Amino acid sequence: MCRINLKGKSILGIANLNKDEILYILDKAQEFLSLIEEKSLNFPSLKDKTVVNLFFEPSTRTKSSFELAEKYLGMKIINIAEKTSSLVKGETIKDTAKNLRSLNIDLIVIRCAFSGVPHMLSKAIDIPIINAGDGMHEHPTQALLDMLTIKQEKGDFKNLRVGIMGDILHSRVARSDILALKKLGAEVFLIGPNTLIPEFFKELGVSEIFNRIEDVIDILDVLILLRMQRERQRGIYYPSLREYIKYFSLRKEILNKAKKDIMIMHPGPVHKGVEAEAEVFDFDRSFILKQVKNGLAIRSALIYLILGE
Ligand code: CP
Repeated sequence: MCRINLKGKSILGIANLNKDEILYILDKAQEFLSLIEEKSLNFPSLKDKTVVNLFFEPSTRTKSSFELAEKYLGMKIINIAEKTSSLVKGETIKDTAKNLRSLNIDLIVIRCAFSGVPHMLSKAIDIPIINAGDGMHEHPTQALLDMLTIKQEKGDFKNLRVGIMGDILHSRVARSDILALKKLGAEVFLIGPNTLIPEFFKELGVSEIFNRIEDVIDILDVLILLRMQRERQRGIYYPSLREYIKYFSLRKEILNKAKKDIMIMHPGPVHKGVEAEAEVFDFDRSFILKQVKNGLAIRSALIYLILGE
């Protein structure tokens, strides 16, 4: 592998990372996992660095793991939420970022309901930007932690068959996961109602689209479940939630037809009884909490590679 250098680089999407860069981040995150366990994640070079976390959309996992990673790395942290910032007085996101830049900050982490805002900021200011989820577009750090979770369990992505089931249309995780899986050599299948799986997803390299999980469950090595993203839905995509659950909620009995070593994953937040029956989330092949744990390692490693190495 050639020498990879992410110093000073923005992480706007998986689309902007190549295979070697993704694997490099995964390797560094794996190394950081043990440092996190030992609570010895201490890098003096990062102590003078300041990060601003701009979370303009709700978040539990992403926000808390970024903040914890920044604390483990010894950085100075400013947290800004939309409702308590001057955005409510009419200031634009770009002007907000430019004003913060005048305070000598070194990094911006941003989550925003509008696709493309991190990309716009990266052109407007001269410090790295990490996209913590932009609208329906990308969620690169989620995809990286998903890839780390899969790599830990399966070792390699070649010949791996990964299914993604649910509201694909409104999912930034689906887009980032598909891009990452394809770059790493896995085969991707989408499962859900046609109304929630637009044809253009095939252009990302998806092998096949299924309307019934029963038709594909036996060949999958990994199944990633996605929630209904109602906050982004602007139309009627299924007759009723009851109808959706009847056809697309993963039942424990369906898992009896799956490979014994299938991985069940979900980016969270989960809706027990909708994406899957409650028992599925407690199933011994569920990796959902492992994903959350890996999120801390991915975000620590990424910040270190961008600012500290
Ligand atoms: N997976 C994810 O982005 O979760 P949060 O919305 O809680 O950050």
